[in-house]
Amino acid sequence: MINRSIIHDITHRTPGSTRLAFTNIFLYLEKMRRLQVMKKLMATSLLSMLIPFIGCSSMSMTPSAQSDDMPKDGELMFPKDYNTFPTFLKGIQKPDAVRDLYINQTGANASQGMPFADGSILVMAIYNAEKDMNGEFAKDAQDNLVKDHLAKVFVMQKGKGWGKQAPMGLKNGDWIYSAFKANGERLDVDYKACRDCHLPLGQSKDYVHRYDEYFEKRGHAY
Ligand code: HEC
Repeated sequence: MINRSIIHDITHRTPGSTRLAFTNIFLYLEKMRRLQVMKKLMATSLLSMLIPFIGCSSMSMTPSAQSDDMPKDGELMFPKDYNTFPTFLKGIQKPDAVRDLYINQTGANASQGMPFADGSILVMAIYNAEKDMNGEFAKDAQDNLVKDHLAKVFVMQKGKGWGKQAPMGLKNGDWIYSAFKANGERLDVDYKACRDCHLPLGQSKDYVHRYDEYFEKRGHAY
């Protein structure tokens, strides 16, 4: 376009004057030079505009790298100080065991009708029930089983997005499960069983079996 209009200027608008034609050629060359400079400028500014995008795309890889750091079932840390956590429920009677449940402070901040917050830890300490000399389960004055030694510690913990790691069809919100021996070593168990049995509680109870009981009894002395 520019080419043609300039050439038109040279050949038509100034047909009689060679001097004018030469001036126009110089003007044309000057215009072309400026155009080259502008092209270069545009190319560099385009590049500088692209650099932040390249930066962003490499940054957007960080969250996916982080998701690899999210724990899966069996990978939770043993909450060593769990018995300093607020009580969830104590002295749950099973045919051959007694269970004490704890919840960390983050979890204890929950109110009924709401899910537990990210960072909540629920712990179930499972004690074997004591047997008397005849091999019968011992009972206390309230006819309750008596705790013998700690057998296992079951843990559920939730974190933002952790549920993505859960097997399809067994997603219990963002809860992850782990089972430990009394000394904190990991137990090798089938975690699908934990999920299977907690799943029916559904979202309304946040997949927690003793959800209602906790909120009803919370604040009462144990
Ligand atoms: C057969 C069903 C079943 C299986 C399997 C099961 N649970 Fe539970 N879980 C329960 C019940 C029922 C409770 C309520 C306490 C009680 O009655 O013993 C409970 C309670 C808990 C609690 C306390 C919070 C709550 O839901 O009340 C934790 C933590 C827990 N289970 C972790 C686990 C882990 C970890 C596994 C797998 C290693 C697991 N559970 C497997 C039935 C199950």
